[in-house]
Amino acid sequence: MCGIVGYIGTRKASPILINGLLRLEYRGYDSAGIATLEDEGLTVMKDKGRVKNLYNIPGIDDLKGTIGIAHTRWATHGKPSKENSHPHVDNSKSFSVVHNGIIENYNELRKFLTDKGYKFYSQTDTEVIPNLIHYYYNKDTKNDDMKLLRAVNKACKDLKGSFAVEVISKYDKEHMVVVRKDSPLVIGKGDGENYISSDIPAILSFTKDFYLLNDLEFALLSRDDIKFYDIDLNPVEKRVQVIEWDAASAEKEGYEDYMLKEIHEQPTAIRETIGAKLNEGSKCDFDELKFTKEYLQGVNKIYLVACGTAMHAGLAGKVMLEKLCKIPTEVDIASEFRYRDPIIDDKTLCIFISQSGETADTIAALKLSREKKARTLAITNVIGSSITREADYSIYTHAGPEIAVASTKAYTSQVVLLALLTIYFAETLGVSKKEVEDLKKEIIELPKKVEEVLKTDEQVREFGHRIYQEKDVFFLGRGIDETVARESALKLKEISYIHADSYPAGELKHGPIALIENGITVISIMTDPKLVEKTVSNIQEVITRGAKTLVVTNQKVDDKMFDTVVHIPETSPFVSPILSVIPLQLLSYYISKEKGLDVDKPRNLAKSVTVE
Ligand code: AGP
Repeated sequence: MCGIVGYIGTRKASPILINGLLRLEYRGYDSAGIATLEDEGLTVMKDKGRVKNLYNIPGIDDLKGTIGIAHTRWATHGKPSKENSHPHVDNSKSFSVVHNGIIENYNELRKFLTDKGYKFYSQTDTEVIPNLIHYYYNKDTKNDDMKLLRAVNKACKDLKGSFAVEVISKYDKEHMVVVRKDSPLVIGKGDGENYISSDIPAILSFTKDFYLLNDLEFALLSRDDIKFYDIDLNPVEKRVQVIEWDAASAEKEGYEDYMLKEIHEQPTAIRETIGAKLNEGSKCDFDELKFTKEYLQGVNKIYLVACGTAMHAGLAGKVMLEKLCKIPTEVDIASEFRYRDPIIDDKTLCIFISQSGETADTIAALKLSREKKARTLAITNVIGSSITREADYSIYTHAGPEIAVASTKAYTSQVVLLALLTIYFAETLGVSKKEVEDLKKEIIELPKKVEEVLKTDEQVREFGHRIYQEKDVFFLGRGIDETVARESALKLKEISYIHADSYPAGELKHGPIALIENGITVISIMTDPKLVEKTVSNIQEVITRGAKTLVVTNQKVDDKMFDTVVHIPETSPFVSPILSVIPLQLLSYYISKEKGLDVDKPRNLAKSVTVE
């Protein structure tokens, strides 16, 4: 998830572009750049680091161009570096592009262009776009105001994946072309000037009049006019929408808090994490790993090591890896793992999960594993983070920056990435073929099903209103549902300060049931058809002792037995946490709001625990 800004008007573009990027840094901040159309042609200034570093680039203040594009990056392909930062240009430096999204077929397009003599100077997927535009522009013999638009249109028809793209060219000093598919892009209408942005905050201070592009719609912008076209370049009529948000709330795209925004970003985060890894009829692709069948057959144990929510994702990973790959797998809390002298040798695979990639205990555990000759693999949301520099291998969630301290979209993206990794291992081992095919189909359906679960918002909010003054809440589950019980208890604890505990449902009668008394709230998750009856009988035990009950399930239950039942779509048990956790993320959020707490920055907590 990156941030893009564009300007075409009569004023100097550079300060407008940089100001816009500063307001979009929450969308990504590992590198930034701008490109403007100067008298002498396209000028690009970019570097690794935060947006404010652009001011240190020599000559940035001398830019006079009144058309420009800009980008602040959240690296997905290629580490944060100057050559990987945007804007990107074609080989002839005639076209400049900024892009937000993931081009899934960039390898294929690179080969097509390389065969035509183009060269590539970055590791990004984006760099194929300006060169494709150059290729089509030069093949177009008609010279008119639409030539740049036609070239961009043809190039975009070759792209697979998600993209919001802004294009300027030294051949056309009167126009900018933009297009979007599955990545956001808005157009701000000014007086003799027009603005582009990934979302409203970056340009809200310049105008309240916006056009919202739909997927695969193109816009041809000049200073005084904006024309819209569909994928076949048929003209499209669009109405101006007046946005009344103030700039502060617009940073959260209209959501009251980052946490709620990030809960609702989960369909996109999961879709982008799946990316190009799952295509019908082809193997799950982790070309950055190249693990062999012999290596995997020789693995004597997998450790999944992490802290907090990341460790809970690891618990789901254990279920998948053992069931589908039959490799003994142990989940460990990093701060425990690093001091208990774990049994590790060169046949042990240690996987470290960390959204930030900066958690001190997790990095220390990784270093210990390397000293003991284990192979180490990092799963993180931040390309170039410390953990990726310590691990032998790194694979990435593509959840975009997670600002709220309480982790939501990173967790569900970690679970889906662990499922993809499990599929990759199973296919390499040549085992569990039927289960793997079934799981692949279910994973592809996840973004839509997550959208479905998000609609339980009101029902969950209503239950939260009933229990927000509770002192204790219990979460119960069996099997993979127990991992969600743990994650949900953590969510509630950390943002509402209510004491919340989780137990394996079958453990209740071994002690914890002594805590159940009249009015206590018990929340349970039931998604495994083989275990639902057992969990129902556990819940009956607490109901008879006066507990209030909320059930999250995709199974048939007697709704009348419980206070509230949140029904969610069925899916593979391996990835059911991705759906069952969402109502409970929302529940924690609404309870915290009812209590008037700072949801995004809860007391005593930091987003990344970089100390022991
Ligand atoms: C999750 O809601 C918490 N904020 C916390 O437990 C977090 O998951 C943990 O600190 C690990 O962080 P990491 O994923 O960045 O390593």
